[in-house]
Amino acid sequence: MTNPSLLILPGDGIGPEVMTEVRKIIDWYGTRRDLPFDVTEDLVGGAAYDAHGTPLHDDTMAKAQAVDAVLLGAVGGPKYDTLDFSVKPERGLLRLRKEMDLFANLRPAQCFDALADFSSLKRDVVAGLDIMIVRELTSGVYFGEPRGIFEEGNERVGINTQRYTESEIDRVARSAFELAMRRNKKLCSMEKANVMESGVLWREVVDQVGKDYPEVALSHMYADAGAMQLCRWPKQFDVIVTDNLFGDLLSDAAAMLTGSLGMLPSASLGAPMENGRPKALYEPVHGSAPDIAGQGKANPIACILSFAMALRYSFDQGDEAARLEQAVEAVLAKGLRTADLLGEEGVAPVSTSEMGDAIVAALEASLQA
Ligand code: IPM
Ligand code: MG
Repeated sequence: MTNPSLLILPGDGIGPEVMTEVRKIIDWYGTRRDLPFDVTEDLVGGAAYDAHGTPLHDDTMAKAQAVDAVLLGAVGGPKYDTLDFSVKPERGLLRLRKEMDLFANLRPAQCFDALADFSSLKRDVVAGLDIMIVRELTSGVYFGEPRGIFEEGNERVGINTQRYTESEIDRVARSAFELAMRRNKKLCSMEKANVMESGVLWREVVDQVGKDYPEVALSHMYADAGAMQLCRWPKQFDVIVTDNLFGDLLSDAAAMLTGSLGMLPSASLGAPMENGRPKALYEPVHGSAPDIAGQGKANPIACILSFAMALRYSFDQGDEAARLEQAVEAVLAKGLRTADLLGEEGVAPVSTSEMGDAIVAALEASLQA
């Protein structure tokens, strides 16, 4: 039997640093849990632009289509701000999402107990929080046509189009209902059916799909009210399903509930491949953080937890994913903090690599337990 294959795309900014720590975890699973992966590495984003003049080379795209899972660090940086839109680092990521057809983006927001005081919200509002946002990722205003900046009379007009087909809504809704079935059987769908036709259709199709999941308690909320409720009392939610743009905004808001953007992983899943595994890309929710890149300040946990999601959703290793999540929790409970998580008195930050090493040590300790 061949080993499962992973394509690693560290990308820009802190991407390479945090990915170095993930490589330690991957190696640990190979040697200590008999779970070896065939790992290849390639360029994406600004790094790919510097090497090839494009944020994603066709060869890299082909590799991504062929592997069992892709693990991505982060893309972007000020150096690329003035580039033409079509070759900006972000386009590399968007091309991967679109061409791999990764329509369901799972963004868990979980508040580790040790970090409940880091949230800008009160401890009792966020402690124990564990919600999952399912964001549609391959359509909506991110990809709808027409788009562009056009001349109209004597001025320019910027146009993007929000567009959803019934089948696009149907498939992401089904992913969300399936997740809800494995969690607390509670799903809230968010759109703006009060002002957008795409929202009206969204609500109709979600209701329709809901008939196949009678056990799931389905509710609907306008996305603006949803944003407010997420900040007021987030624990009322379990699974949230929403479109591409609202999901982008709501998941950043949800991220802050947990204390730091440096903690949040994500999985982007598509249809099953021939081997039964879903097409998949895993990445931290945070960006490339160019201001702290190369200084050993980055928090590798979001990227490490993204690998835990890969273990769970691509490789059917739920127990090993839980082992890794518990190792992270143990290290946080011991008081280890990267620079993004400071604030407690008398706590000195650990570096990116010290955090990675501590998590490997906690994994090792889990074998003795
Ligand atoms: C995200 C990011 C991306 C998005 C950018 C980097 C293209 O904000 O994954 O949330 O807008 O989808
Ligand atoms: Mg975003």
